[in-house]
Amino acid sequence: MALENHSLKLLSIQGKTKSPPPSIVCDHRMDKIANVTVLGSGTMGHGIAQIAAMAGFKVLLRDVEQRFLDNAMDKIKWSLNKLVEKNKMTKESFDQTLSRLVPVIDLKEGLKDADLVIEAVPEDLSLKRIVYKDVSSYADPKTLFASNTSTLPISEMAELTDRPGSFIGLHFFNPPQLMKLVEVIRGHQTEQGTVESLMTFVENLGKTPVLVQKDVAGFIVNRIFIPLVHEAVFCKERDGITYEEIDAAMKLKLGFPMGIFELADYTGLDVINKATHEMYLRDKKVINPHPLIEKLFEQKKLGQKTGEGFYSYSSDKYERKDLVQADATTFDPIVMLAVASNNACWLLSNGVCSQADLEKALRLGMGLKKELLATVQEFGIKRVIEKLQEMSDKYGKFYAPDPYLLKLAD
Ligand code: 3HC
Repeated sequence: MALENHSLKLLSIQGKTKSPPPSIVCDHRMDKIANVTVLGSGTMGHGIAQIAAMAGFKVLLRDVEQRFLDNAMDKIKWSLNKLVEKNKMTKESFDQTLSRLVPVIDLKEGLKDADLVIEAVPEDLSLKRIVYKDVSSYADPKTLFASNTSTLPISEMAELTDRPGSFIGLHFFNPPQLMKLVEVIRGHQTEQGTVESLMTFVENLGKTPVLVQKDVAGFIVNRIFIPLVHEAVFCKERDGITYEEIDAAMKLKLGFPMGIFELADYTGLDVINKATHEMYLRDKKVINPHPLIEKLFEQKKLGQKTGEGFYSYSSDKYERKDLVQADATTFDPIVMLAVASNNACWLLSNGVCSQADLEKALRLGMGLKKELLATVQEFGIKRVIEKLQEMSDKYGKFYAPDPYLLKLAD
């Protein structure tokens, strides 16, 4: 659907009010979210602000310095221009989107009429503590709070606010302008009314929400993606091959839209490193960390944004590597498939999501072209399990096959 038509549809949806089901006590349902404040104008914050403005919401984008906001507005204009170039947006919608988007520095001003605050500040709990203290005191009591955190525990963050019942995780994927998925994460105290309001909000953004039933480390997609980056580095070391060979095999044999190193560089090694620490802190079983990630982070080789990560880049704008068939022949990606599917099965064993939602999340949040468990079938479940058993004997429990995967083989 053309974006401008979509915006019109959304505006009419927002005009409707729905009554909550009578059985639900929901002080915190927000029937008509119209004004959204996004805190933090970095990679995710500016993208979230853009899509909310594109969908017809009035958006205040808040950051602490004008230069951050200027940079964010430049990126938003670049992205909107791309959409116009590709006939996905009219010039009129371009202008309307920008008119709905106001950059702001003063926090109190930024929160004045907010129905929903989406926090996308750096992943540092002590910083978030300060932000949430201020936000709690300035925002209207009815304002809903959502965090775009990649990995921090939603229930703990909710405790930093004066309204844990109205607090939720709303995890977007990079680039938010192109990725359809939003993970909606319920904390221990999140009220049903808040969940319903935010599921509707995500749909009104033109995105697809997937409800993450448990607040586990990495939620759904990062539980699979982050460990894969580390595993790819182990594979490179063990097999003595190049980044391109691994990436080409991921793309051309496993149906990933980007190679895993390419994706890590695109996401940012700072983000991957922080997510690794947080996930590992919460659950040792989730990740087998390779020290190179921390090293690249310390060397400020953060990927595309700094011009170098696993690869080198000529600008901080969207740039891709040429991954060719000839490079895809040397590496057998079965280890990568085994690790990804084992973590996916952990999510299913532990009731974090259904198999349908898992596949939906991977398709819309990581752009997987084939269902992960269908790829496992193609490679042979028995082979995948044998590989995990072999790895588990050599390298430890992280690789031990999940009971769900073992059951699939029966
Ligand atoms: N806005 C508008 N257009 C954009 C854009 C943006 N922000 N970013 C890129 N584009 C444009 C590109 O410039 C390119 O246009 P061009 O053809 O004129 O150069 C076009 O979109 C993309 O075309 P490509 O042929 O290069 O790319 P693909 O068909 O492969 O699609 C993709 C791009 C959707 C990014 C796809 O590669 C993909 O799905 N990649 C995986 C991304 C992913 O996994 N993201 C999640 C990471 S994990 C995460 O974010 C969670 C966090 O917590 C860590």
